[in-house]
Amino acid sequence: MSQSFLAHRIVTLKPSGIRKFFDIVATMKDVISLGIGEPDFDTPDPILQAGIRSLQRGETHYTSNSGILELRVELARHLEDLYQVTYDPVSEIIITVGVSEALYLAMTAILNPGEEVLIPTPCFVAYQAEVTLAGGVPVEIPSRVQDNFQPNLEALESAITLRTRAILIGYPNNPTGAIATRETLMEVLRMAQEHDLVVISDEIYDRLVYGVPHVCFASLPGAWERTLTLGGFSKDYAMTGWRIGYIAGPAETMSGLLRIHQYTIMSAPTPAQAAGLEALRTGEPYVRGMLAEYDRRRQRIVGGLNHLGLPTFEPHGAFYAFPDIRATGMDDELFAQKLLEEERVAVVPGSAFGAGGGGFVRCSYATTYEQIEEALQRIENFMRRYG
Ligand SMILES: Cc1ncc(COP(=O)(O)O)c(C=O)c1O
Repeated sequence: MSQSFLAHRIVTLKPSGIRKFFDIVATMKDVISLGIGEPDFDTPDPILQAGIRSLQRGETHYTSNSGILELRVELARHLEDLYQVTYDPVSEIIITVGVSEALYLAMTAILNPGEEVLIPTPCFVAYQAEVTLAGGVPVEIPSRVQDNFQPNLEALESAITLRTRAILIGYPNNPTGAIATRETLMEVLRMAQEHDLVVISDEIYDRLVYGVPHVCFASLPGAWERTLTLGGFSKDYAMTGWRIGYIAGPAETMSGLLRIHQYTIMSAPTPAQAAGLEALRTGEPYVRGMLAEYDRRRQRIVGGLNHLGLPTFEPHGAFYAFPDIRATGMDDELFAQKLLEEERVAVVPGSAFGAGGGGFVRCSYATTYEQIEEALQRIENFMRRYG
Protein backbone atom coordinates (compact mmCIF):
# COMPACT_ATOMS: atom_id res chain seq x y z
CA MET A 1 0.00 0.00 0.00
CA SER A 2 1.46 3.32 -1.02
CA GLN A 3 0.27 5.00 2.17
CA SER A 4 3.03 3.21 4.08
CA PHE A 5 5.53 5.60 2.52
CA LEU A 6 3.87 8.61 4.11
CA ALA A 7 5.06 10.25 7.30
CA HIS A 8 2.73 9.95 10.31
CA ARG A 9 1.85 13.62 10.32
CA ILE A 10 0.75 13.38 6.67
CA VAL A 11 -1.31 10.23 7.15
CA THR A 12 -3.33 12.00 9.82
CA LEU A 13 -3.67 15.24 7.83
CA LYS A 14 -7.32 15.50 6.81
CA PRO A 15 -8.22 16.60 3.28
CA SER A 16 -9.88 20.02 3.23
CA GLY A 17 -13.63 19.79 3.88
CA ILE A 18 -14.11 22.38 1.17
CA ARG A 19 -12.52 20.27 -1.57
CA LYS A 20 -14.70 17.27 -0.81
CA PHE A 21 -17.72 19.46 -1.28
CA PHE A 22 -16.54 21.03 -4.51
CA ASP A 23 -15.78 17.67 -6.03
CA ILE A 24 -19.52 16.96 -5.74
CA VAL A 25 -20.47 20.39 -7.11
CA ALA A 26 -18.24 19.83 -10.15
CA THR A 27 -20.36 16.85 -11.19
CA MET A 28 -23.64 18.81 -11.14
CA LYS A 29 -25.37 21.10 -13.62
CA ASP A 30 -27.17 24.43 -13.05
CA VAL A 31 -25.58 25.03 -9.65
CA ILE A 32 -25.36 28.55 -8.25
CA SER A 33 -22.20 28.60 -6.25
CA LEU A 34 -21.92 30.71 -3.14
CA GLY A 35 -19.02 28.49 -2.26
CA ILE A 36 -16.20 30.25 -4.03
CA GLY A 37 -13.44 31.79 -1.93
CA GLU A 38 -11.99 34.03 -4.60
CA PRO A 39 -13.03 37.20 -6.42
CA ASP A 40 -15.30 36.71 -9.43
CA PHE A 41 -13.64 39.76 -11.02
CA ASP A 42 -10.81 39.25 -13.48
CA THR A 43 -7.54 41.00 -12.69
CA PRO A 44 -7.90 44.71 -13.62
CA ASP A 45 -6.50 45.40 -17.08
CA PRO A 46 -3.48 47.63 -16.22
CA ILE A 47 -2.26 44.95 -13.82
CA LEU A 48 -2.78 42.24 -16.42
CA GLN A 49 -0.92 44.31 -19.04
CA ALA A 50 2.01 44.83 -16.68
CA GLY A 51 2.34 41.07 -16.34
CA ILE A 52 2.18 40.60 -20.11
CA ARG A 53 4.77 43.35 -20.71
CA SER A 54 7.06 41.73 -18.19
CA LEU A 55 6.98 38.47 -20.14
CA GLN A 56 7.47 40.32 -23.43
CA ARG A 57 10.53 42.08 -22.00
CA GLY A 58 11.98 38.64 -21.47
CA GLU A 59 11.52 38.58 -17.71
CA THR A 60 11.35 34.84 -17.70
CA HIS A 61 14.14 34.33 -15.16
CA TYR A 62 14.41 34.09 -11.37
CA THR A 63 14.41 37.27 -9.35
CA SER A 64 16.25 37.98 -6.13
CA ASN A 65 15.11 35.43 -3.52
CA SER A 66 13.24 38.10 -1.59
CA GLY A 67 11.52 39.38 -4.72
CA ILE A 68 12.27 42.38 -6.94
CA LEU A 69 13.50 45.25 -4.82
CA GLU A 70 11.23 47.78 -6.54
CA LEU A 71 8.21 45.78 -5.44
CA ARG A 72 9.45 45.49 -1.87
CA VAL A 73 10.13 49.24 -1.77
CA GLU A 74 6.63 49.97 -3.06
CA LEU A 75 5.13 47.51 -0.58
CA ALA A 76 6.99 49.12 2.32
CA ARG A 77 5.63 52.51 1.22
CA HIS A 78 2.13 51.07 0.88
CA LEU A 79 2.17 49.63 4.43
CA GLU A 80 3.62 52.85 5.82
CA ASP A 81 0.96 54.97 4.07
CA LEU A 82 -1.97 52.78 5.02
CA TYR A 83 -1.02 51.64 8.52
CA GLN A 84 2.01 53.66 9.61
CA VAL A 85 3.95 50.45 10.01
CA THR A 86 7.57 50.50 8.90
CA TYR A 87 9.44 47.64 7.24
CA ASP A 88 12.88 47.77 5.67
CA PRO A 89 12.37 46.60 2.07
CA VAL A 90 15.81 45.02 2.00
CA SER A 91 15.71 42.85 5.10
CA GLU A 92 12.14 42.76 6.38
CA ILE A 93 9.91 41.81 3.43
CA ILE A 94 9.79 38.63 1.33
CA ILE A 95 7.60 38.30 -1.75
CA THR A 96 5.98 34.85 -1.58
CA VAL A 97 3.88 32.50 -3.65
CA GLY A 98 0.70 33.83 -2.10
CA VAL A 99 -0.18 34.03 1.56
CA SER A 100 -0.26 30.23 1.34
CA GLU A 101 3.53 30.14 1.10
CA ALA A 102 3.84 32.91 3.67
CA LEU A 103 1.93 30.72 6.16
CA TYR A 104 4.20 27.79 5.39
CA LEU A 105 7.34 29.89 5.89
CA ALA A 106 6.09 31.39 9.13
CA MET A 107 5.20 28.05 10.67
CA THR A 108 8.27 26.21 9.49
CA ALA A 109 10.54 28.99 10.71
CA ILE A 110 9.21 29.45 14.22
CA LEU A 111 7.95 26.06 15.42
CA ASN A 112 9.94 23.45 17.26
CA PRO A 113 8.38 19.95 17.31
CA GLY A 114 5.28 19.79 19.50
CA GLU A 115 4.94 23.53 20.05
CA GLU A 116 1.40 24.84 20.06
CA VAL A 117 -0.20 27.54 17.98
CA LEU A 118 -3.46 29.04 19.23
CA ILE A 119 -5.91 29.67 16.40
CA PRO A 120 -9.23 31.44 16.84
CA THR A 121 -11.68 29.45 14.72
CA PRO A 122 -13.60 29.20 12.44
CA CYS A 123 -10.71 30.15 10.16
CA PHE A 124 -9.13 29.65 6.76
CA VAL A 125 -8.82 25.89 6.21
CA ALA A 126 -5.04 25.88 5.79
CA TYR A 127 -4.15 27.26 9.23
CA GLN A 128 -4.38 24.05 11.24
CA ALA A 129 -2.77 22.03 8.45
CA GLU A 130 0.19 24.41 8.12
CA VAL A 131 0.88 24.10 11.83
CA THR A 132 0.72 20.30 11.63
CA LEU A 133 2.96 20.21 8.55
CA ALA A 134 5.58 22.22 10.41
CA GLY A 135 5.54 19.71 13.28
CA GLY A 136 3.49 21.90 15.61
CA VAL A 137 0.14 21.37 17.30
CA PRO A 138 -2.83 23.56 16.33
CA VAL A 139 -5.08 24.50 19.25
CA GLU A 140 -8.48 25.73 18.12
CA ILE A 141 -10.18 28.48 20.11
CA PRO A 142 -13.81 28.68 18.97
CA SER A 143 -15.25 32.17 18.50
CA ARG A 144 -18.92 32.88 19.17
CA VAL A 145 -21.56 34.65 17.16
CA GLN A 146 -22.61 36.61 20.27
CA ASP A 147 -19.10 38.14 20.25
CA ASN A 148 -19.50 38.96 16.55
CA PHE A 149 -16.97 36.19 15.91
CA GLN A 150 -14.13 38.12 17.44
CA PRO A 151 -11.51 35.96 19.18
CA ASN A 152 -12.78 34.61 22.50
CA LEU A 153 -10.23 36.29 24.75
CA GLU A 154 -10.91 34.32 27.91
CA ALA A 155 -10.66 31.00 26.11
CA LEU A 156 -7.55 32.18 24.32
CA GLU A 157 -5.79 33.15 27.52
CA SER A 158 -6.71 29.99 29.36
CA ALA A 159 -5.37 27.86 26.48
CA ILE A 160 -1.85 29.26 26.85
CA THR A 161 0.61 26.65 28.13
CA LEU A 162 4.38 26.41 28.37
CA ARG A 163 4.33 24.83 24.92
CA THR A 164 2.49 27.73 23.29
CA ARG A 165 4.65 29.43 20.71
CA ALA A 166 2.32 31.63 18.68
CA ILE A 167 -1.14 32.98 18.07
CA LEU A 168 -2.37 32.86 14.48
CA ILE A 169 -5.10 35.33 13.62
CA GLY A 170 -6.83 36.21 10.36
CA TYR A 171 -8.99 39.36 10.22
CA PRO A 172 -11.00 40.29 8.22
CA ASN A 173 -11.95 36.69 8.66
CA ASN A 174 -12.62 33.86 6.29
CA PRO A 175 -15.29 32.37 6.73
CA THR A 176 -17.23 34.70 9.04
CA GLY A 177 -16.50 38.12 7.51
CA ALA A 178 -15.77 39.39 11.03
CA ILE A 179 -13.18 42.03 11.74
CA ALA A 180 -11.37 42.24 15.06
CA THR A 181 -11.60 45.55 16.87
CA ARG A 182 -8.58 47.48 18.06
CA GLU A 183 -9.56 46.71 21.69
CA THR A 184 -9.69 42.97 21.02
CA LEU A 185 -6.38 43.03 19.21
CA MET A 186 -4.80 45.02 22.04
CA GLU A 187 -5.83 42.21 24.40
CA VAL A 188 -4.34 39.60 22.09
CA LEU A 189 -1.15 41.65 22.11
CA ARG A 190 -1.11 41.88 25.89
CA MET A 191 -1.30 38.08 26.13
CA ALA A 192 1.42 37.68 23.53
CA GLN A 193 3.65 40.07 25.47
CA GLU A 194 2.99 38.45 28.84
CA HIS A 195 3.75 34.98 27.52
CA ASP A 196 6.37 35.98 24.96
CA LEU A 197 4.46 34.65 21.94
CA VAL A 198 4.77 35.38 18.24
CA VAL A 199 1.66 36.74 16.52
CA ILE A 200 1.11 35.70 12.94
CA SER A 201 -1.43 38.02 11.40
CA ASP A 202 -2.96 37.06 8.07
CA GLU A 203 -4.31 40.31 6.66
CA ILE A 204 -5.03 39.15 3.13
CA TYR A 205 -8.47 40.83 3.15
CA ASP A 206 -7.17 44.12 4.58
CA ARG A 207 -8.64 46.34 1.86
CA LEU A 208 -11.99 44.58 1.82
CA VAL A 209 -13.64 46.30 4.78
CA TYR A 210 -17.05 47.98 4.81
CA GLY A 211 -17.33 51.24 6.70
CA VAL A 212 -14.75 50.30 9.33
CA PRO A 213 -10.98 50.80 9.34
CA HIS A 214 -8.68 47.81 9.07
CA VAL A 215 -6.36 47.55 12.05
CA CYS A 216 -2.94 46.23 11.07
CA PHE A 217 -1.79 44.19 14.06
CA ALA A 218 1.87 45.20 13.72
CA SER A 219 0.86 48.87 14.00
CA LEU A 220 -0.33 48.46 17.60
CA PRO A 221 2.15 49.92 20.07
CA GLY A 222 4.66 47.24 21.05
CA ALA A 223 3.38 44.71 18.52
CA TRP A 224 5.86 45.12 15.66
CA GLU A 225 8.75 43.19 17.15
CA ARG A 226 6.72 40.03 17.76
CA THR A 227 4.50 40.09 14.66
CA LEU A 228 4.71 38.51 11.25
CA THR A 229 2.37 40.34 8.86
CA LEU A 230 1.02 38.29 5.96
CA GLY A 231 -0.64 40.02 3.07
CA GLY A 232 -1.42 39.57 -0.51
CA PHE A 233 -2.77 40.49 -3.86
CA SER A 234 -5.14 37.55 -4.42
CA LYS A 235 -8.26 39.06 -2.84
CA ASP A 236 -7.75 42.84 -2.84
CA TYR A 237 -6.66 42.99 -6.48
CA ALA A 238 -8.41 39.87 -7.83
CA MET A 239 -5.12 38.10 -8.53
CA THR A 240 -5.55 34.58 -7.11
CA GLY A 241 -4.06 32.83 -10.14
CA TRP A 242 -0.89 34.93 -10.22
CA ARG A 243 0.27 33.32 -6.98
CA ILE A 244 1.82 36.26 -5.23
CA GLY A 245 1.78 37.59 -1.68
CA TYR A 246 4.21 38.72 0.97
CA ILE A 247 5.35 38.37 4.54
CA ALA A 248 6.95 41.10 6.63
CA GLY A 249 8.57 41.05 10.05
CA PRO A 250 11.70 41.83 12.05
CA ALA A 251 14.94 41.22 10.14
CA GLU A 252 16.30 38.54 12.43
CA THR A 253 13.21 36.34 12.02
CA MET A 254 12.94 37.14 8.34
CA SER A 255 16.47 35.90 7.70
CA GLY A 256 15.29 32.45 8.86
CA LEU A 257 12.22 32.59 6.68
CA LEU A 258 14.35 33.61 3.72
CA ARG A 259 16.51 30.52 4.05
CA ILE A 260 13.42 28.28 3.84
CA HIS A 261 12.06 30.28 0.90
CA GLN A 262 15.45 30.06 -0.87
CA TYR A 263 15.57 26.30 -0.62
CA THR A 264 11.92 25.54 -1.34
CA ILE A 265 10.73 28.23 -3.76
CA MET A 266 13.71 30.27 -4.97
CA SER A 267 11.60 33.27 -5.96
CA ALA A 268 7.95 34.12 -6.57
CA PRO A 269 6.81 34.13 -10.23
CA THR A 270 8.57 36.99 -12.03
CA PRO A 271 5.70 38.34 -14.20
CA ALA A 272 3.42 38.15 -11.17
CA GLN A 273 5.82 40.41 -9.30
CA ALA A 274 5.67 42.96 -12.14
CA ALA A 275 1.88 42.75 -11.99
CA GLY A 276 1.93 43.17 -8.21
CA LEU A 277 4.03 46.31 -8.57
CA GLU A 278 1.50 47.75 -10.98
CA ALA A 279 -1.32 46.80 -8.60
CA LEU A 280 0.28 48.83 -5.81
CA ARG A 281 0.96 51.77 -8.10
CA THR A 282 -2.28 52.11 -10.02
CA GLY A 283 -4.70 49.56 -8.56
CA GLU A 284 -6.45 51.78 -6.03
CA PRO A 285 -9.46 52.84 -8.17
CA TYR A 286 -10.06 49.21 -9.06
CA VAL A 287 -9.92 48.15 -5.41
CA ARG A 288 -12.50 50.81 -4.60
CA GLY A 289 -14.70 49.81 -7.52
CA MET A 290 -14.71 46.13 -6.55
CA LEU A 291 -15.25 47.03 -2.91
CA ALA A 292 -18.33 49.11 -3.78
CA GLU A 293 -19.78 46.20 -5.73
CA TYR A 294 -19.02 43.70 -2.95
CA ASP A 295 -20.73 46.04 -0.53
CA ARG A 296 -23.89 46.21 -2.66
CA ARG A 297 -23.99 42.40 -2.78
CA ARG A 298 -23.17 42.13 0.92
CA GLN A 299 -26.20 44.19 1.84
CA ARG A 300 -28.43 42.19 -0.48
CA ILE A 301 -27.33 38.77 0.76
CA VAL A 302 -27.22 39.61 4.47
CA GLY A 303 -30.63 41.31 4.28
CA GLY A 304 -32.01 38.45 2.19
CA LEU A 305 -30.80 35.67 4.48
CA ASN A 306 -32.07 37.41 7.60
CA HIS A 307 -35.41 37.90 5.91
CA LEU A 308 -35.62 34.17 5.14
CA GLY A 309 -35.21 33.25 8.80
CA LEU A 310 -31.48 32.49 8.68
CA PRO A 311 -29.97 34.89 11.24
CA THR A 312 -26.85 36.42 9.71
CA PHE A 313 -24.63 38.75 11.65
CA GLU A 314 -23.31 41.75 9.74
CA PRO A 315 -19.92 40.97 8.22
CA HIS A 316 -17.64 44.01 8.05
CA GLY A 317 -14.91 42.48 5.95
CA ALA A 318 -13.90 39.98 3.23
CA PHE A 319 -16.71 38.70 0.98
CA TYR A 320 -18.52 36.12 3.07
CA ALA A 321 -21.85 35.96 4.88
CA PHE A 322 -22.12 33.35 7.65
CA PRO A 323 -25.76 32.57 8.39
CA ASP A 324 -26.86 30.56 11.42
CA ILE A 325 -28.84 27.61 10.04
CA ARG A 326 -29.66 25.92 13.36
CA ALA A 327 -33.35 26.91 13.22
CA THR A 328 -33.79 24.39 10.39
CA GLY A 329 -32.98 21.57 12.81
CA MET A 330 -30.22 20.35 10.50
CA ASP A 331 -26.50 20.40 11.08
CA ASP A 332 -24.43 22.46 8.64
CA GLU A 333 -23.24 19.45 6.63
CA LEU A 334 -26.75 18.16 6.07
CA PHE A 335 -28.06 21.66 5.32
CA ALA A 336 -25.37 22.24 2.67
CA GLN A 337 -25.93 18.80 1.18
CA LYS A 338 -29.73 19.13 0.95
CA LEU A 339 -29.55 22.69 -0.35
CA LEU A 340 -27.21 21.51 -3.08
CA GLU A 341 -29.23 18.44 -4.00
CA GLU A 342 -32.68 20.00 -3.81
CA GLU A 343 -32.11 23.59 -4.93
CA ARG A 344 -28.70 23.47 -6.58
CA VAL A 345 -27.17 26.16 -4.42
CA ALA A 346 -23.65 25.49 -3.13
CA VAL A 347 -22.62 26.85 0.26
CA VAL A 348 -19.82 25.56 2.48
CA PRO A 349 -20.58 23.91 5.85
CA GLY A 350 -19.16 26.05 8.65
CA SER A 351 -17.63 23.06 10.40
CA ALA A 352 -15.13 22.79 7.51
CA PHE A 353 -13.48 25.86 9.04
CA GLY A 354 -12.92 24.37 12.49
CA ALA A 355 -14.51 24.52 15.91
CA GLY A 356 -17.19 27.18 16.30
CA GLY A 357 -18.22 26.92 12.65
CA GLY A 358 -20.79 24.15 13.18
CA GLY A 359 -24.40 25.31 12.76
CA PHE A 360 -23.39 27.95 10.21
CA VAL A 361 -22.66 27.92 6.49
CA ARG A 362 -20.37 30.15 4.48
CA CYS A 363 -22.00 32.02 1.60
CA SER A 364 -19.55 33.88 -0.59
CA TYR A 365 -20.83 36.99 -2.33
CA ALA A 366 -17.94 37.02 -4.75
CA THR A 367 -20.48 36.25 -7.44
CA THR A 368 -22.80 38.46 -9.46
CA TYR A 369 -25.73 40.34 -7.96
CA GLU A 370 -28.08 38.43 -10.25
CA GLN A 371 -26.73 35.07 -9.08
CA ILE A 372 -27.20 36.19 -5.49
CA GLU A 373 -30.81 37.14 -6.25
CA GLU A 374 -31.40 33.76 -7.84
CA ALA A 375 -29.69 31.93 -4.96
CA LEU A 376 -31.89 33.77 -2.44
CA GLN A 377 -34.96 32.76 -4.41
CA ARG A 378 -33.89 29.13 -4.28
CA ILE A 379 -33.06 29.33 -0.58
CA GLU A 380 -36.53 30.76 -0.03
CA ASN A 381 -38.04 27.67 -1.67
CA PHE A 382 -35.86 25.52 0.54
CA MET A 383 -36.81 27.39 3.69
CA ARG A 384 -40.50 26.95 2.87
CA ARG A 385 -39.91 23.26 3.38
CA TYR A 386 -37.48 23.36 6.26
CA GLY A 387 -37.82 26.77 7.94
C1 LIG B 1 -7.63 34.01 5.05
C2 LIG B 1 -6.87 33.52 3.86
N1 LIG B 1 -5.53 33.49 3.91
C3 LIG B 1 -4.81 33.06 2.87
C4 LIG B 1 -5.41 32.61 1.71
C5 LIG B 1 -4.54 32.13 0.58
O1 LIG B 1 -4.25 33.18 -0.26
P1 LIG B 1 -3.17 33.20 -1.42
O2 LIG B 1 -3.94 33.14 -2.71
O3 LIG B 1 -2.46 34.52 -1.26
O4 LIG B 1 -2.26 32.04 -1.25
C6 LIG B 1 -6.81 32.61 1.61
C7 LIG B 1 -7.49 32.10 0.40
O5 LIG B 1 -8.65 31.77 0.40
C8 LIG B 1 -7.56 33.09 2.72
O6 LIG B 1 -8.90 33.12 2.70
